[in-house]
Amino acid sequence: MFISIPSDGNSVSQKEYKPVPISSFRNVTRDISFDLFLRIHDDNYAHVFSRTTGLDYKRLANYMQKGVTELFIKEEDREAYETFVAKTADSIFSDPSTSQEKKIATLLNMTEQNMAEIFTNFSIPPETADNSQKVIKNYVALMTEEPKALALILKLVSHGEYLYYHSIAVSIFSILVAKASGQFDTRMIEIIGLGGFLHDIGNSQIPKEILEKGHNLDPKQMAIKRSHPKLGLQMIENTPNIPDEVRWIVYQHHEQPGGEGYPNGLMGNAIFYPAKIVGMVDAFSALISHRPYRQAFPVEKALEMLASEPKKYDSDLVRLLATILRRQAATEKAA
Ligand SMILES: [Fe+2]
Repeated sequence: MFISIPSDGNSVSQKEYKPVPISSFRNVTRDISFDLFLRIHDDNYAHVFSRTTGLDYKRLANYMQKGVTELFIKEEDREAYETFVAKTADSIFSDPSTSQEKKIATLLNMTEQNMAEIFTNFSIPPETADNSQKVIKNYVALMTEEPKALALILKLVSHGEYLYYHSIAVSIFSILVAKASGQFDTRMIEIIGLGGFLHDIGNSQIPKEILEKGHNLDPKQMAIKRSHPKLGLQMIENTPNIPDEVRWIVYQHHEQPGGEGYPNGLMGNAIFYPAKIVGMVDAFSALISHRPYRQAFPVEKALEMLASEPKKYDSDLVRLLATILRRQAATEKAA
């Protein structure tokens, strides 16, 4: 196997290389308009695929077999890489022979890449914002055309990292509840999906120990944890292609109808309605997930817990979610 080590391999700072999932090169054309590197150790990268010769699938499969999960691109090639990913997804979605499974796997893969981008940069570059909107649009389309997609998506995402899984689950449940409420047009449903996807981006700046500690936080830690809606808002304040409604969702998703929420203790109708949707769904998704400090609750138990706290979660919205999930469970049983 030919590996050319860049001559400046030892002196180049790690910051100049950006990890990208190796899976984004599976089943795609061999043309790439950027170079790809493999991390050998610490600050040492090998130039493994070049923009002039393209990808070599045998070698790619070999890396994957050996357990390689990420390759690296140069920071200046980031835009070229994002375009490559978006184009790949477009061709998969526009091909009528693409299976539902493949569409979903592609969406999840793109979602994960977008999330990884946001969480490693603490910001949302405009290309990532565009890609995220595209991904959400496809989720909405997929769930409208293929009602069975929900079960498949949830099954797949539940195997992933909590951070990504939770964002995807909140986005999808928010889309479903927004749709079922009958109050929004498609554009607004997509915006709510994007809000659900991005609602917790502020957590990328909160120490992991605090995020994984659950409710046993001292007042200082609690204040840090509760700063995440504001931090999230700051992260997207200057991103031009993020709609304002998404900013309100990110900033208000922990407000509660009874006025006990944060950051501003808003009450009832003063809270942006889509933020209430995302807030309720956020709590639900967290309850049904396994966390380092507790087991996952069963769906029915989680719904009961939400319904018992009308000051925290809008009762009509909880009922809508319950109806969607029970219908889903009945369809699955009948299948
Ligand atoms: Fe949150």
